[in-house]
Amino acid sequence: MDLSSSAAMSLRRLRQNRFVRELSREFRVHPEQLIQPLFVVEGLSKPKPVPALTGVHQETRESLLRQIESDLEAGVSKFLLFGVPLKPDLHQVQWTGEFLAGAIHDIRKTFGRDLFLAVDVCLCSLTDHGHCGILNETHTSVENAASVAELARLAVVYAHAGADCVAPSDMMDGRVAAIRAALDQAGDCETLIMSYSAKFHSKFYGPFRLAANSAPRGHTPLRDRATYQLDAGRWSDALLSSERDVREGADILMVKPGLPYLDVLYRLSQAIPRPWAVYQVSGEYAAIELLGREGLIDAGAAHAEAWLAMVRAGASMIITYGARLGAHRVLSHEPVHPA
Ligand code: PBG
Repeated sequence: MDLSSSAAMSLRRLRQNRFVRELSREFRVHPEQLIQPLFVVEGLSKPKPVPALTGVHQETRESLLRQIESDLEAGVSKFLLFGVPLKPDLHQVQWTGEFLAGAIHDIRKTFGRDLFLAVDVCLCSLTDHGHCGILNETHTSVENAASVAELARLAVVYAHAGADCVAPSDMMDGRVAAIRAALDQAGDCETLIMSYSAKFHSKFYGPFRLAANSAPRGHTPLRDRATYQLDAGRWSDALLSSERDVREGADILMVKPGLPYLDVLYRLSQAIPRPWAVYQVSGEYAAIELLGREGLIDAGAAHAEAWLAMVRAGASMIITYGARLGAHRVLSHEPVHPA
């Protein structure tokens, strides 16, 4: 590079080679910041790939353990577990006791404390209508109090089974306070709460709903989650919801989705000095993967760029389906998918 015209080149001087660029970088992403989502499905005979989510499967109770073992070997040690019943029916209340709690138990028995296990707390995979809460008699609205009671009960079941952290993603009012009170009363004082405090009503959740069997459906005029998830046009709601969750006892806050809501993440993380998680949701992850499959971009490098943007905006942790795709390789500029 010709640096002879020194005055004119003053900013480019720090970009001239990778060593100078590495040394002058203010932000970087480290693999230890990444959390890998996992799906365990009751009654599945063998693991089943999730469309468009490269590397992600619906797991059986047995394959879940093998997957975690290989993730640990790959350097991934933080997980967010989703449990999916065979037949959604909220009335079969022992389901969670017998299945998801069993899976959590297996994980603890096999791996001890060598990993961090967060468990998603929601009702969307458990209800036959796919909504995140319990519907009223006429199926025209989601009942807040009844939903919160059930969520708090589930949180205790997961904590007792061995979850380090429970992560309510339902967006009911007052769920964090109810969960904290229930955990404390049950003696689970150390169990963390990661609240989806700023979870927006988004179109980017598509592939996830296939994996978790959780799309709204059935005999209800409620076709979507707009009556409980945040409206994309309201920043103030994200602020109020996150401030409230801190008051109610949330340890970790979250913005979700990630890239389309980086402005929200930046403003919230500046306003509220707490650990901020961001969820690179299924649609965001799949979009990059599909571009990669078409040969249009280097998907691994594009994920790394998206994660860096999230850290720059204030996230200290990132939930991403790509954690296991060799996060450390991506982040050190080597290809994710071996040639
Ligand atoms: C449901 C839930 C959703 C996600 C996590 N928990 C989707 C939804 O609200 O339908 C989204 C995750 C993703 O898209 O990757 N409570």
